[in-house]
Amino acid sequence: MDKVVAGNRAVWEQASMKHVREYDELLEQARGEGRLFARERELLAPVLAEAPVVVHFQSGHGLDDVALVKAGAKSVVGVDYSSVAAGAAQRRAGDVGVSCQYVVAEVPGVPIRDASADLVYTGKGALIWMRDIDAWARDAARVVRPGGHLFVYEGHPAVPLWTWDEDEPRIRPDRSYFAESHVNDTFPGNGAQEWQWTLGQIVTAVTRAGLRLQILEEYAEPFWRPQDDTTAAAWSGRLPNSYALLAQKPL
Ligand SMILES: C[S@@+](CC[C@H](N)C(=O)[O-])C[C@H]1O[C@@H](n2cnc3c(N)ncnc32)[C@H](O)[C@@H]1O
Repeated sequence: MDKVVAGNRAVWEQASMKHVREYDELLEQARGEGRLFARERELLAPVLAEAPVVVHFQSGHGLDDVALVKAGAKSVVGVDYSSVAAGAAQRRAGDVGVSCQYVVAEVPGVPIRDASADLVYTGKGALIWMRDIDAWARDAARVVRPGGHLFVYEGHPAVPLWTWDEDEPRIRPDRSYFAESHVNDTFPGNGAQEWQWTLGQIVTAVTRAGLRLQILEEYAEPFWRPQDDTTAAAWSGRLPNSYALLAQKPL
């Protein structure tokens, strides 16, 4: 494993202890609605109506997986390089009684058979940990079957630029949209290095991997706030904070 990726993994093992400390709270959420946004449900409705076999790259706490099964998925295999995250997600899936299995492995290079998934689902803080966006897209395209889909719901690549000032949005003087990477200073912190991929680079990687772009939507609403009661002018509706992408593998 690459040295920087190994460093990030160690940080995530530590940060994922949050999923263990907050196990009961997350279990309660999993027993309720789970973590799919309304727009995700709408965009994925035709796919979920077919009871897809889902592979979730970078599955984290796994709340998305429980929600995917409740929304119609036949099963979900979550892949995450944090054994702490995968362990907590597996225990939670068992407690809720949903068909989710977790594999501890690095993305890209997941130990999942070619063309075995109807849907590869990912996002909410996933792509920024990919050192090689083309390798990521190729792995997703490999795992999805012909006619199947890749769905991404992610933080917008412009987000690292926004300050969290409450009076008005400002651009951080230490960041560039076109930088290759920066050190994460929020969560998981501790020197983790995020890679930056522009929207153009992400879409190009997906199409170059052989998938056909069907939907690309940008949203003002962030997918994550450091605390639920935090407000920032950058989230008031004028700037992009998240996006969704749906692509299909040709038959
Ligand atoms: C912000 S979380 C997002 C995951 C999930 N969508 C969620 O909401 O919990 C990022 C996850 O990616 C995992 N991760 C980061 N880089 C990875 C890699 N190269 N291979 C596998 N997992 C990775 C981390 O362990 C962490 O659980």
